[in-house]
Amino acid sequence: GLVNTRELFAKAVTGGYALPAYNFNNLEQLQAIIQACVETKSPVILQVSSGARKYANQTLLRYMAQGAVQYAKELGYAIPIVLHLDHGDTYELCQSCIEYGFSSVMIDGSHHAYDENVALTKKVVEYAHQHDVTVEGELGVLAGVEDEVSAETHTYTSPEEVEDFVRKTGVDSLAISIGTSHGAFKFKPGQKPQIRLDILAEIEKRIPGFPIVLHGSSSVPPEYVDLINKYGGKMEAAIGIPEEQLRAAAKSAVCKINIDSDGRLAMTAAVRKVFAEKPAEFDPRKYLGPARDLLKELYKHKNIEVLGSANRA
Ligand code: G3H
Ligand code: 13P
Ligand code: ZN
Repeated sequence: GLVNTRELFAKAVTGGYALPAYNFNNLEQLQAIIQACVETKSPVILQVSSGARKYANQTLLRYMAQGAVQYAKELGYAIPIVLHLDHGDTYELCQSCIEYGFSSVMIDGSHHAYDENVALTKKVVEYAHQHDVTVEGELGVLAGVEDEVSAETHTYTSPEEVEDFVRKTGVDSLAISIGTSHGAFKFKPGQKPQIRLDILAEIEKRIPGFPIVLHGSSSVPPEYVDLINKYGGKMEAAIGIPEEQLRAAAKSAVCKINIDSDGRLAMTAAVRKVFAEKPAEFDPRKYLGPARDLLKELYKHKNIEVLGSANRA
């Protein structure tokens, strides 16, 4: 069955790699994730956002994720699979997901005042741990849009707060803000794409070996943006987190790296290519199939070259 993150994170921290946390909303994304992780023998965290629940239905997503455990075996290798709520914003939502069989939840109280964040996170942890579900909390605010709240600038996580937060809440992992952000436009053109690995190091000193999570970690490969634009798209200057910086983070106590936008770009590029080259095609399998294949290649690359999660399952 689905597993929680406890043992997986402990191994990732000591092993110096990070688990992939890939978002999914539909069948082809799930197939690509599972195929890639089976072929690279990587554990995986399947993430469902509030938007995904609205789009695809919580019950369908839950049974799809549970089915993925069997699907992996049929593909030839049983990998550990976590079903995780991405950016839970209320106690009630986390509770509902736990009742629905999620094995891990995020309670994102980072927009609240510190004490409120602590109280909310602690309440979720108390309920989740009764059900053997692990909890991710967050301190610091990422620039850009997060939970339908948008921030102009990053509020970096203060290393001074992390120890107190972790102790008071009992969380199993902590998402931090060190310069990553959601979406495809993480840096302005001309700006040097650089995350604050110095703040990460400061945080690690305060909570040695404690599992750290990075959101907003798409790299926005220029080849996808170029393909999208070549085949009729109109995306401008999109810049992500350089892979070598993620590789460095994965070697530290960062044990979960969230990637969604890169998958969106890959799928869009592949679909546009089919539409441009074969405009008579109208069978969804003929464009979603190639999208799924490109997505799978992307995820294999991430597992092997960026996160170091290959051959860890
Ligand atoms: O954190 C954001 C994730 O990329 C999920 O995005 O809320 O549009 O499903 P979404
Ligand atoms: P990206 O938008 O960088 O892929 O981040 C996804 C994420 O953090 C999901 O929680
Ligand atoms: Zn996120």
